[in-house]
Parts: sequence; C-alpha cells; structure tokens
Amino acid sequence: MKKVITILALIAASASIGWSQDASALFKTKCAMCHGAEGQGKPKIAPKLAGIDKSEAAIVAMLTKGGAPKGIHMKPMAGMDAAHAKALAAFVKSLK
Ligand code: HEC
Repeated sequence: MKKVITILALIAASASIGWSQDASALFKTKCAMCHGAEGQGKPKIAPKLAGIDKSEAAIVAMLTKGGAPKGIHMKPMAGMDAAHAKALAAFVKSLK
C-alpha cells in the first residue's frame, strides 16, 4: 500500500513539473519567450501584454480554451488548468 501511495505521489509531482505556483516564474517559462520578460512584446513574434485591454476572464478563457483567430492561442495552452490560467491572467493584468 505504501508503495502505491509513493508511486501516486511521484506521478502527481511529475505532472506539475514546469508549472510553478509563482505566476511570474510561470510567465518566464511559458510566455516570456514570445511576449518578453516584462510582457513588452517582441516584434514579429508576439504582441505587448502590458496594459492589455482584455479582461482577466477573457485571458483565462483564451489560455484554457484557445479561440484566438491565429497562432498558438487558437488552441488551449498545453498543460494549462484553470488555476494556472487565473494566476497568469492576473499577472498579465498587473504588467504595466
Ligand atoms: C509561441 C509564442 C507565444 C507563446 C509561448 C505565448 N504567446 Fe501569447 N500570443 C502570441 C501571439 C503571436 C499572439 C497574437 C495573437 C495570436 O496570434 O494568437 C498572442 C496573444 C496573446 C494575448 C492576447 C493579446 C491581446 O492584446 O489581445 C494574450 C493575453 C497572451 N498572448 C498571453 C499569453 C500568455 C499568458 C502566455 C503564457 C502562458 C502566452 N501568451 C504564450 C504568441 C505567444
């Protein structure tokens, strides 16, 4: 029984690798390569996110469900769950 629990714990831990609870660290690993470390955007790669008009809820929906007209955000982001999306959306809204 102990072994089963250990294995389950390992599976749970590996499923969250790459996902830190810290939204700014999450942004660095999942978003900054396109949107820039401060959400300043990168020419020809991704738009600026600082000062974005979209609501937090709209950002969450885009990250978890996709729906952008083109590009990476047409589809949900890989491994994104509601809690991570909410943390990221709040972080994006805090960028100035
Ligand atoms: C592969 C590059 C890439 C990555 C990685 C990426 N994005 Fe984007 N993002 C884009 C592009 C390009 C657009 C412009 C719309 C489109 O083409 O989908 C965009 C658009 C957006 C928008 C809408 C901007 C607006 O003004 O409406 C938001 C919000 C956003 N991204 C957030 C994020 C977040 C949060 C992450 C990390 C979880 C992320 N993106 C990761 C390329 C990327």
